[in-house]
Order: sequence, then C-alpha cells, then structure tokens
Amino acid sequence: MAQTNLPTRLQVGEKTVNIQQRLGNGAFGVVYGVEEEGTSQVYAMKDILCLNVSAIHNANREASTLNKISHENVIAIVSIGHFYDGVGLHKLLLTEYCSGGSLNDRLARPSSDQQNLKWMIQIADAVAHLHSCNVVHRDLKADNVLLTASEDVKLGDFGLACEYIPLKRADVQLYHGSWLTTYTKYYMQSRIGPIHWVAPEFLRGHYTEKADDFSLGTLLFAILERDYIVINGKAIYGAFVSVPGRGKYGVGFAMENFDRNIRIQFSSHAQGSNALQRNVHELLKYNPYDRPTAQEICNHLRAIQENIGLGQSSTDSNEAGSCF
Ligand SMILES: Nc1ncnc2c1ncn2[C@@H]1O[C@H](COP(=O)(O)OP(=O)(O)O)[C@@H](O)[C@H]1O
Ligand SMILES: [Mg+2]
Repeated sequence: MAQTNLPTRLQVGEKTVNIQQRLGNGAFGVVYGVEEEGTSQVYAMKDILCLNVSAIHNANREASTLNKISHENVIAIVSIGHFYDGVGLHKLLLTEYCSGGSLNDRLARPSSDQQNLKWMIQIADAVAHLHSCNVVHRDLKADNVLLTASEDVKLGDFGLACEYIPLKRADVQLYHGSWLTTYTKYYMQSRIGPIHWVAPEFLRGHYTEKADDFSLGTLLFAILERDYIVINGKAIYGAFVSVPGRGKYGVGFAMENFDRNIRIQFSSHAQGSNALQRNVHELLKYNPYDRPTAQEICNHLRAIQENIGLGQSSTDSNEAGSCF
C-alpha cells in the first residue's frame, strides 16, 4: 500500500474528527479510531486510498451498500467524505466504533457456550438480513466480524459486498410470436476474495448468495473449534482440513481441489452440543442447494438457545432490520 500522510484533523461529511489511533489494516484500507470535535464521540474511520477509477468505484459501492443496510448486528455508517493528498483520492467512511475489536482476535481467548451461541445467532441473523436485502457479503471471516464493548456482533467490511439479482428475468419469443417471461437463478462470476473461507463453487466463479452461507459455516465452525492457520505471523481462525502430504487448507478449497466429499470433523475439544455442530455441518455442504439458508440456521440456533434455557436477552431478540 502506498505511503500517505492523512492530516490528523479531517472533515468527514458534516463531522469534524481528529485521528486518535490506528485500529487495523486491511486489504483495502487503513482503519483509524477518531474522535468528533465538540462531542468527543468516538468513531472508526476507514481510509480507502483510491489510485484508479475502479478503486473509487469499489469504495463508493462499499459506502452505498452500508447505507442500504440497517440492522443491529451490521456496522452502521455515520458519514462519508474524501480527501486528496497528492498520492490519490482517499475515500473516508465513518462508522460506529467497536471497542471489542475483531472476532478473530477474540477467538484466541476462551468464551462460554452461552457467548458462543450468542455470536453464532447474531452473525447468522446479520447474514440473513443482508440476503433479505439482496446483498451478498463475499468476505465473511472472523477478521470482518467486529465486537462491541458488550461483545455483541457488528458485521463489518463491505469492501467486497455487492447487490445481486436473486432471479434473472429472460423474455423468450415463442415460435408463434408471443413472448414468455421466465425467471432463472442469477450466478455471480467474480472470483475476488480470500480463498480460505470461500465455498467450493466460489472458486469456480459460478455462485450465488449460497456461497455466503458456506462461509458462515466456516465462521461458526471457527467459534466452536478454534482452529487456525498462521498467515504473516497472525493466527487466522476458520475451518481447515489437513490434506495428507499437502498441508492445511480451507475446507471449501480442499473440497474443490482434492475431494468434494470431505466432511470436516469437530475435535474432542470443540465446544457446542451435537445439535449445534450438526447445524454447522449443514452449512458446509458441497452442493449449495443442500445448505440451509442463513435465516433457517438463525432460527435453528434460536430454538437451541430456547431449549437449553439460555433465553433471549434484549440484545439477542433482533427486530427485523431494514434495507431501503
Ligand atoms: N468499526 C470498527 N471498530 C473497531 N475496529 C475496526 C472497525 N472497523 C475495522 N476495524 C479494524 O480494522 C480492521 C480492518 O477493517 P476492514 O473494514 O476489515 O478493512 P479491509 O477492507 O481493509 O479489510 C478490522 O479487522 C478491525 O481490526
Ligand atoms: Mg477486512
């Protein structure tokens, strides 16, 4: 990433903010903790350096997707701005701040069954909501799940998210001249994104929102199993299988490249009941149409929560969010 010098005081939409510290680096930008002048309200500011038109397009898409979604387990966007520093155009996205950091970092420390189930429900609920708004995230991994001070989930990083067309309309002219309207499933083809968390069909470049459901499965697996690989010295949690003589691979990658019948196993130290683990296995099916939807998984997890008497706290009982 090119070296840049952002001023410490910036205008982001209607808000004047001062940069306090760097919160994280990602593939597409640097995220800073900032404080609003006058109110001392703390926000996160994502600085996306755009060196070409397609980067500007991507940053605008991230902002407009976030603007479209309103759900208590999805990061809320506060305002949008830009800044030019001679190196390039910086798109600035001001969002709510998550003081609990990323789920990936949190998974290094133990958590209770109750906490795990709460995270699983909240993540499934957030993904179900995106899909109900015809948005596919395409980058579901523990690094992109953020936590509030009370350890509630805020799904973040919509850098690869896009809107999809659930059914594609095709008008076909029949031999006698009349027209027939048919609706077929619309498949996305772009193969951007990380390879460790993706569904097998994603690697073939022919996928739907069901690819998110597979990645959701890898996330839920990671919460219960705590397995990780080390990339650039950092533990990255996910669902991995060891392929004899080859090494450790993301389960979707291994299915696509080595054996589509791979069924990832929970180890004896994994957390969660058999019922909970079965739900995760359902999401990690090779065939996208054998997988439940995120909404179905969310409903199943809520039923498990009710059955084991954990009940619903006010933060768990999500009212339907909105997309407009
Ligand atoms: N709202 C936020 N509050 C706290 N930390 C954040 C926030 N947004 C991002 N971060 C931190 O910055 C990292 C990178 O942010 P992300 O949006 O995933 O950017 P990228 O698209 O570059 O991967 C996250 O993994 C997290 O550690
Ligand atoms: Mg990220």
